[in-house]
Amino acid sequence: MMLVAGKPFLTVDETDVWFESLQAEEAEYRQYWSWLSESERQTAQRFVRELHRRRYAVCHGKVRLLLGHYLGIAPQAVCFGRQTLGKPFLLDASGGPHALRFNLSHSGDWMLLAAGPRELGVDIEVWDPRHDPESLAGEILAPNELEYWLTLSPAERAAAFYRFWTRKESLAKAVGSGIGIGVASIETTPGSLAKFLGLPKDCGKPSDWHLIDLDFGAGISGAMSRRRRLQSTVTESA
Ligand SMILES: CC(C)(COP(=O)(O)OP(=O)(O)OC[C@H]1O[C@@H](n2cnc3c(N)ncnc32)[C@H](O)[C@@H]1OP(=O)(O)O)[C@@H](O)C(=O)NCCC(=O)NCCS
Repeated sequence: MMLVAGKPFLTVDETDVWFESLQAEEAEYRQYWSWLSESERQTAQRFVRELHRRRYAVCHGKVRLLLGHYLGIAPQAVCFGRQTLGKPFLLDASGGPHALRFNLSHSGDWMLLAAGPRELGVDIEVWDPRHDPESLAGEILAPNELEYWLTLSPAERAAAFYRFWTRKESLAKAVGSGIGIGVASIETTPGSLAKFLGLPKDCGKPSDWHLIDLDFGAGISGAMSRRRRLQSTVTESA
């Protein structure tokens, strides 16, 4: 089995965060493809553009490689289940939920994978000129975030918008509900000290979650939300 090259982008407590490129040489791409399940191959084949098919295959191949590394099994032997709203989780050898939690996010040529013992969610966004922060801010930001955001100069607004956006989506993904949760009701601290101040019902208390802004440099934003305490099963509701 190929060994995982490189190191996590970040390790916090026992959670590793991997920030990986989705570009690959032909031989590497074929290797990733060979590890995919039949259903992952079918998903890949549904992409109209080859670029998207290749990114999907590299992403899910890398997910298998990295998670297989933690589990001590071959990439193609990694098995997944899905929660009701689509959040994938690892299955153990007996077909039950594995204690290792993970979450995946991808955007453009990049992916983010976090793995550790506590429930977590990650989000990465490559800034996209089709997203207009000026018209989205009112829908997405909580009142205190919007008030702060409006004090920023036009040059500062994009970074702040994506910082808030990825924080909220990481929480939505941690609880497994997706953005249907109502992201404007997820309230975080303005400025750089990342914390939740308010959460939608069923997400627990703000202090239940550890929020981390991930800095990948200009044009790429990311965040991770991670439970502070261990939970007994992956299907336990937030
Ligand atoms: C989950 C969701 C937030 C993903 O947002 P996104 O920015 O498009 O995508 P990201 O790159 O951050 O994350 C995608 C990955 O998150 C994971 N994922 C999928 N559903 C998830 C969920 N409900 N919670 C957490 N993670 C999820 C998958 O690994 C997915 O990768 P894949 O599609 O390549 O397998 C978004 O799709 C969403 O809101 N879904 C709502 C789910 C829902 O309500 N479904 C109703 C039908 S049952």
